[in-house]
Amino acid sequence: MTVKLVLRMGDERLLQRAEPVKKFNTSELRELLADMNDTMLALSGAGLAAPQIGVGLRVVIFGVQSNSRYPDADSVPQTILINPVIIPVAELMEEGWEGCLSVPGLRAVVPRYLNIRYQGHDENGGLIDRTVSGFHARVVQHECDHLDGILYPMRIRDFSKFGFTEELFPGQDLQDE
Ligand code: NI
Repeated sequence: MTVKLVLRMGDERLLQRAEPVKKFNTSELRELLADMNDTMLALSGAGLAAPQIGVGLRVVIFGVQSNSRYPDADSVPQTILINPVIIPVAELMEEGWEGCLSVPGLRAVVPRYLNIRYQGHDENGGLIDRTVSGFHARVVQHECDHLDGILYPMRIRDFSKFGFTEELFPGQDLQDE
């Protein structure tokens, strides 16, 4: 088990565009995914992108079981998504709260497409093709933004809805995503 250090906002590696994975089913890729999974679990995250542990590859993992920490959230299946492509299926955007393991202790309201189709590959190269909405769509857009060097604060429109989790949601024990 290897829990990696998660880079924090200000580290320029988080601003770089990640490179596509060219070979699937390799020991390097399996090792990266194991490290990402261990790190996400250790920090109780909802998702993690490879650049957050300093690896500039287009790999994200995510998944949320509906629980008390996300009372309004739909559950999102545990997913490994490599070389993802996101296609909005409608123009409609929705504002919603987000946090990030690279921006610890803070939350903000960020607009995201409500309905998206996303495609990509699993660790063996198998095709993933899903059409999703709401919280699932938000998580995918957040994680895939990391692959293009975009952190959620760069998408905030209303900075009055950006602050420390403990002040915004006192007593709720919300953690970073
Ligand atoms: Ni993040």
